[in-house]
Amino acid sequence: MTACALNFQLSTLNFCMIPPGKTIGVLGGGQLGRMFAHAAERLGYRIHIYEPEANGPAGEVSALETNRPYTDIEALTTFAKSVDVVTYEFENIPAEPLWAIEKHVQLHPHWNVLETCQNRMREKNWLRKNNFSPVPFAEVEAGDDLAAAIRKMGLPCVVKTADFGYDGKGQIKVADDASLAKAVASFAKQRCVIEKFIDFKCELSVVVARSSTGEVKAFSVAENIHTKHILDFSIVPARIPAETAAAAETLALAIVEKLNVVGLLAIELFLTDRGELLVNELAPRPHNSGHWTLDACATSQFEQHVRAVCGLPLGDVSVIAPVVMVNILGDAWKWQGNVITGEPNWQAVLAHPRAKLHLYGKKEPRIGRKMGHFTVTAATPGTALEAARELKARL
Ligand SMILES: Nc1ncnc2c1ncn2[C@@H]1O[C@H](COP(=O)(O)OP(=O)(O)OP(=O)(O)O)[C@@H](O)[C@H]1O
Ligand SMILES: [Mg+2]
Repeated sequence: MTACALNFQLSTLNFCMIPPGKTIGVLGGGQLGRMFAHAAERLGYRIHIYEPEANGPAGEVSALETNRPYTDIEALTTFAKSVDVVTYEFENIPAEPLWAIEKHVQLHPHWNVLETCQNRMREKNWLRKNNFSPVPFAEVEAGDDLAAAIRKMGLPCVVKTADFGYDGKGQIKVADDASLAKAVASFAKQRCVIEKFIDFKCELSVVVARSSTGEVKAFSVAENIHTKHILDFSIVPARIPAETAAAAETLALAIVEKLNVVGLLAIELFLTDRGELLVNELAPRPHNSGHWTLDACATSQFEQHVRAVCGLPLGDVSVIAPVVMVNILGDAWKWQGNVITGEPNWQAVLAHPRAKLHLYGKKEPRIGRKMGHFTVTAATPGTALEAARELKARL
């Protein structure tokens, strides 16, 4: 590593610019790392992926890859010494070993952002302490009386494990005695949060970038439709009043500043019938609901992430056209029982003049596994959604 070319000194920030040509280390080797690597390499950076499993989506398209556990301090130290800055694309990395990285190289976002966001209890308490309106919740420690806590919260509610949840895994909606019994059987020995079930008007998200120079920009608010707790469609611009979009953006910018994030932060929100914005969760990395930026925004979230962690000027976030992003899960393959009998009909998406297909190179489709996505642009968000639904049905 060479000395920093430029030193930025802001009240809370003191980082140097990492110019193109340098090496960016990425913890995590999934599809977010893959799309980050594409963006970084286009800007002339080299990518070094650190990921426990071999043959993942990101390693396949990166110059360098280390396959060692996240707890291997020696391997993390060697990795840190070989790169110019480190970021991550995955939240479920133990935060402590990251201290070893910070001894040698800039880590963005800082490990304490990861520590706050990777545990639902810490994240919700942080939001509540800072007056950012989380979904009303109660905490349950392992071994506490979960059934009593659920009854106290009132039905319907959602029980979620405090750690390691993603894509709707580790959560159960409790609406009756049978689902209550299921939640107790599944989570009795774990730390949990119990949330009030919110009968929201719609779900929204905002991806915000904050550079190591202190510059901040928010992408347009996305309207998200989930199916079985997994993101299905993201619609941009969100079909909400302009004041609501402005309020969501203001809230997201305030959270990013308060959390002192350098990099990307995605803020997931529920919009209630009364027009309130409740924070569902935070993710300090590129977000599935930001994939539309690859095809319908002047700068993609992945390029913005590179710019933010390297201290480059942030890119333009103008929306080029109304767009809908659709996730492609393993469910789209043809299945007979547990056996795959056919591929999705890629032709349907490829033949559409305003659709773009993105596949992540994962070898093994599984039900519920994110294998890729596609986007469709159109004259309005409504017509883009119609086209997206039709293409999804034909996949
Ligand atoms: N309290 C709630 N009230 C209503 N719906 C909820 C609630 N909690 C979760 N959901 C639904 O389940 C989805 C997934 O929940 P959440 O974001 O907490 O889980 P996750 O596993 O972290 O998902 P992801 O990784 O996709 O963000 C939400 O986007 C929402 O559609
Ligand atoms: Mg979520």
